[in-house]
Amino acid sequence: MRMVDIISKKRDGLPLTKNEIAFFVEGYTKGEIPDYQASALLMAIYFEDMTEEERQALTMAMVNSGETIDLSAISGIKVDKHSTGGVGDTTTLVLAPLVASAGVPVAKMSGRGLGHTGGTIDKLESVKGFHVELSKEEFIELVNHDKVAIMGQSGNLTPADKKLYALRDVTGTVNSIPLIASSIMSKKIAAGADAICLDVKTGAGAFMKTEEDAENLAHAMVRIGNGVGRNTMAVISDMSQPLGYAIGNALEVKEAIATLKGEGPEDLTELVLVLGSQMVVLAQKADNLEEARAKLESVIQNGAALEKFKEFLRNQGGDDSVVDDPGKLPEAAFKQEIPAKQSGFVSEIVADEMGVAAMMLGAGRATKEDEIDLSVGIVLRKKVGDAVQEGESLATVYSHQTDISSVRDKIYGNITISDHAEKPKLIHKIITE
Ligand code: URA
Ligand code: CA
Repeated sequence: MRMVDIISKKRDGLPLTKNEIAFFVEGYTKGEIPDYQASALLMAIYFEDMTEEERQALTMAMVNSGETIDLSAISGIKVDKHSTGGVGDTTTLVLAPLVASAGVPVAKMSGRGLGHTGGTIDKLESVKGFHVELSKEEFIELVNHDKVAIMGQSGNLTPADKKLYALRDVTGTVNSIPLIASSIMSKKIAAGADAICLDVKTGAGAFMKTEEDAENLAHAMVRIGNGVGRNTMAVISDMSQPLGYAIGNALEVKEAIATLKGEGPEDLTELVLVLGSQMVVLAQKADNLEEARAKLESVIQNGAALEKFKEFLRNQGGDDSVVDDPGKLPEAAFKQEIPAKQSGFVSEIVADEMGVAAMMLGAGRATKEDEIDLSVGIVLRKKVGDAVQEGESLATVYSHQTDISSVRDKIYGNITISDHAEKPKLIHKIITE
């Protein structure tokens, strides 16, 4: 087999065979196929697309390029959730203990990653003592016993995806549905998921800005998952403004605790109930979505979800007293309000720019080596559709420095007040095929 023939075939719009795709992925991972040939193929895929069979073959070739996690020692159906980006997305922190307390095994591998705020692990590390350095045996034991554990990414999962993603980044081929879908799905499958619940964000703060793109990506991922034997579905949810109020690590942990108590923001609460219900059904812990939702609402009301969160923190060395006393979480030195300059209704809060503002405060990482400040961030006081009086606070900024003028400008520049505004729809669509 020759790489040049594979490139020419795709250039001419013909579908590649499973063997040709595996030849490319293996050869590129091993360094036997040069970047220039891989780039040419990626560009051909960008323009010529891939059939469903090709997408499945690409996904599985990337899964097989490295180690995979075997979760078969954990009883039950392991459901993983994946969100495509977003700003101030506190869903994982809430969902893990929530669905675990409904009996769904949550065996999560998580990374730190780059972004506006830290990843799930960074956020949880704002709880004193919490750690994710578990042996594989401890991890499995915890999930079997208590239904939830989070372990730091270990092992060499999907090396092909790492190499290809880096190449796509510099060859203008990131934004391709078959390439994005196979990239995301390969990581979930390599991490051992039996079933997958996808939260595909749409709007200004999302990877997929339009609803149409989000829908196409959701269908692509759902079809790959179902095609390779992993029960998969997707929820398309709004990211035209940040989810919830908090953007920042310890601030989001506080928000997650409030949500588990049933006192969280309306949008975050609704989204975790929608995603959680799907996860409960995928794990076969309820027969239908209504039953699943009722189960989740009851574990919030009776305190079981909150208790599960404490147990989870304790199991991994964390000080669970923060749940009853969130004041024990890291707190920023300064707290300043951003007063509205006029009265009216909030009509826009540009999600990704709010993320940039949080990043300017030190809440996120631009490079892997960056240290993040767990205490800083932004708490919105208003969401789109809310009425506001001149002088009323739009947001509270938690900072390390007293001079926050550039952050203040960023916030003013990205919150619009108009004569009228409507609350955006949170759940756009449920995609099952
Ligand atoms: N996220 C991924 O993991 N892969 C992509 O290709 C795009 C976004
Ligand atoms: Ca939030």
